Amino acid sequence: MPEQGKSESRARLAAGLVEEALAERFGEAFAVDPNLPGLDELARIAGHRVHRRFLPRAVEPGLVRLLCACALSAPSKSDLQQADILIVRDKAKQRAITALIPDMPWIADAPVFLVFLADGSRLPQIAQWRNKPFPNDHLDLFFNAAVDSAIVLATFMRAAAAVGLGSCPISAIRDRPDVVSDLLELPARVVPVAGLCVGWPAEAGGITPRLGLATTVHEDRYGAGDLAQQIDAYDRRREEQRPYRRQRDPERWGNASAYDWSEDKARQYADPLRADFGAFVRGKGFRLE
Ligand SMILES: Cc1cc2nc3c(=O)[nH]c(=O)nc-3n(C[C@H](O)[C@H](O)[C@H](O)COP(=O)(O)O)c2cc1C
Repeated sequence: MPEQGKSESRARLAAGLVEEALAERFGEAFAVDPNLPGLDELARIAGHRVHRRFLPRAVEPGLVRLLCACALSAPSKSDLQQADILIVRDKAKQRAITALIPDMPWIADAPVFLVFLADGSRLPQIAQWRNKPFPNDHLDLFFNAAVDSAIVLATFMRAAAAVGLGSCPISAIRDRPDVVSDLLELPARVVPVAGLCVGWPAEAGGITPRLGLATTVHEDRYGAGDLAQQIDAYDRRREEQRPYRRQRDPERWGNASAYDWSEDKARQYADPLRADFGAFVRGKGFRLE
């Protein structure tokens, strides 16, 4: 096949992959123009899925470093650069983190484990060195650092997916942020945002349906629409495509005949989760007023 024909059929294939992934994700049809540039990247983004099972195959440290550099190329609020990545190379530390979260054994199995940090320590330090006041020690300092860190985390995941690696963020490290902080020797004003398991995927994984765009994309003003009806439709679509295998806390809530997303999320948030996180963040020196 001549070169042009090859690239046209490749573009059509990529457009088809984007359409398929988004139809599965949102339960709606999207027409994708095969002449759009960047369709391979869109196909990877649209086909996103987390990976929790990895092959017992090492990931080269040089590749991890490359991906860190790509991730840290993400935009940064006011160029303040308040996100860091901590590579946990010490397997004893990785096991210690796993021991805190026994229901997530994929942390121990991950060939690479990273911790994404919100780093609010550098700016006050620089202010001191430059003999300047620092009247910005309030919630926004923490918020900016946490947002930057989340963007770097997402960018790392995209970069990892581009080279065929799978990954799974782990916010559960914030169940015991004090222990993680001590283990990783995090200084004042540096807090963990999420861990990330990284490795070569052991299985393809599947697309998780999301709420429809009518619920999560707004135009000109926030339009709640008929939220109850939208959630109900999503619950039914999700149950058909990707039913829950286990019900959460059946001893407390019983066994629901139709166990859907909203039932699962209502049960999940019926327990206090990380109620002490604010105290931890304040204890690390952030002022959250
Ligand atoms: C910030 C963040 C924290 C997460 N924390 C965990 C976690 O602690 N453990 C886990 O197994 N998955 C975790 N996940 C993965 C989500 O459970 C997953 O993204 C979600 O179920 C949707 O699946 P998908 O990413 O394949 O679409 C986290 C994801 C994000 C974005």
